[in-house]
Amino acid sequence: MMLLNPISLSLFWALTSIPFTHAQSTPAAWKTLAAVPAGPIHEHAAVALNSSHLAIVGGVLERGGVIDSVYIYSIPQDTWKKVTSLPITINHANAAVVDGKMYILGGMTGAAWNGTPRSWVYDPATDKWTAIASMPASEARGSAVMGVYGKVIWLASGKTKSGGESVTWVSAFDTASGKWLTDIPAKAKNIPEGRDHGGGGIIGSKFYQLGGSLGAIENRKDTVFVLDLEDLGKGWVTAKGKMPTPRRGFATGIVGGKIYTFGGEGNPDRTYGGVFKEAEVYDTVTDTWAALPAMKLPRHGSAAVVVDGNIYIPGGGTAMGTPATAVFDVYSP
Ligand SMILES: *[C@@H]1O[C@H](CO)[C@@H](O)[C@H](O)[C@H]1NC(C)=O
Repeated sequence: MMLLNPISLSLFWALTSIPFTHAQSTPAAWKTLAAVPAGPIHEHAAVALNSSHLAIVGGVLERGGVIDSVYIYSIPQDTWKKVTSLPITINHANAAVVDGKMYILGGMTGAAWNGTPRSWVYDPATDKWTAIASMPASEARGSAVMGVYGKVIWLASGKTKSGGESVTWVSAFDTASGKWLTDIPAKAKNIPEGRDHGGGGIIGSKFYQLGGSLGAIENRKDTVFVLDLEDLGKGWVTAKGKMPTPRRGFATGIVGGKIYTFGGEGNPDRTYGGVFKEAEVYDTVTDTWAALPAMKLPRHGSAAVVVDGNIYIPGGGTAMGTPATAVFDVYSP
């Protein structure tokens, strides 16, 4: 065993004393894992299946083409495994997990990235996809903000297709009944203004929709919209806290009462090809934002998955357009 002198010993402690009380203090919060097997990819979806495995679904390869592939990653083994593909190619898929099963509730499909309402559930035990009720055809879109509350999967905002509308729609699928909710009160049914490529999720009974863009990619927004799922009649409210760097296409991970946001696109500064390096965290308790150290590898069009307080970010676009990476890293707050 290597003997440590007092200097390397203190370095050792600096590197291993996780969780950091000040995440800002060190880039050691980032660790690189086994690359995404599909190769450089963006606009895929990612979800945690359970406490040791996560999955990525579909996406757009840097070398071109929307894929139907699905891969499962084992955290303890740091290995990927290809499983049964989705019945269609998909990008900007709306994905969530309830009771260990993965739901794909619409997205964008084909070379033209057309919005699709088609939906499926994947059972890891049988490695099979089963068609479920499609989302209402009039609400077909990809890049919705997703959240799970009890057995119900909630979707807010999104984009109807490539170059399509940024929508206000809120939809909900009840995994217990296999039906889409048709009784969402008017004030809860639409967010205050259209958004696509936003971030957020559900904490407690509150559904958060952060940032995103309205129409043009550059028309980036800093808003935080909130819906209390226990008081749908009250409808969406706009929080005081504003994203310090308005962005779209960022990855979001929820740890405790905080929503972490990473990267994004639409940056007028082209240092990173129009991608943002910024990482910022929203504290839902204090309704305030704070800056974090920049992303180790700035990107957009990725997805974040939280397992055991760590935020896993597979792939993503390294510049606006097609450049992408297969790099997979994890951020530990
Ligand atoms: C988690 O999911 C993986 C992949 O489906 C599976 O192999 C593993 O047994 C699951 N673990 C638990 C604890 O359910």
